[in-house]
Amino acid sequence: MIDIHSHVLYGIDDGAQDIEESIEMCHDAYKNGCKTLVLTPHFFDFKHIHGFVKERNHRIENLKIALEEESIPLKLLHGAELFLSDKIFTAGSLDDLTINDSRYMLCEMPLGPFKTDHVLMWFDELLDRGYTPILAHPERYYVFHEDYSLIDEILDRPILLQVNIDSLRGKNGPGPQKMALDMINRKFATLIASDAHDPVFRHTRLNEKLDDLPDELSADDIRLCLEKTPLKVINNQDIL
Ligand SMILES: [Fe+2]
Repeated sequence: MIDIHSHVLYGIDDGAQDIEESIEMCHDAYKNGCKTLVLTPHFFDFKHIHGFVKERNHRIENLKIALEEESIPLKLLHGAELFLSDKIFTAGSLDDLTINDSRYMLCEMPLGPFKTDHVLMWFDELLDRGYTPILAHPERYYVFHEDYSLIDEILDRPILLQVNIDSLRGKNGPGPQKMALDMINRKFATLIASDAHDPVFRHTRLNEKLDDLPDELSADDIRLCLEKTPLKVINNQDIL
């Protein structure tokens, strides 16, 4: 499996706190069926893109060396989770923030209330710049629960949706679980990821989490969302 959304990189956001925690999460991921992990630390400081990328890449190199020393053959790729706001209109190139230098950009939005027309403008800005946005965990935004038509408007565009495996397991409550399952069943969402933040609660152990999923998710759904589509993302292949 390929996990395209994780906060396993240490000391750069609210994910792994130190390199030991990163190594533990990588070990757990590999032992639980994940062969490739994309490191996607939160990114919101658009004034300092260069500094963020430099720091991220430095830590990734350190982590790769540590994994080699520990004989953990997990493949690590770079990415970021871009926090959408009006700041993207004046930001410089975002190329270094894409997943593995592909066209695919993992994005999140404010969880609270926001102007829906701004959401569409943010996505259109990314599309105009040549990126294909992947919206992380749409099931966690309550605005979508109240107004599903915004999802339709988003999906009128070439945008991918990624649901969190923990939402499918019901860990974020019944509303997000129902919506996440519905999005997979209707093929609105074609990606599932861990969004792992720590070794205990929001962890990287995908096989363990798969055992905990509702029966209505088929093996084909799982393969599509955790193998086939992620493989196209990291190889920058057409999906839509
Ligand atoms: Fe995340």
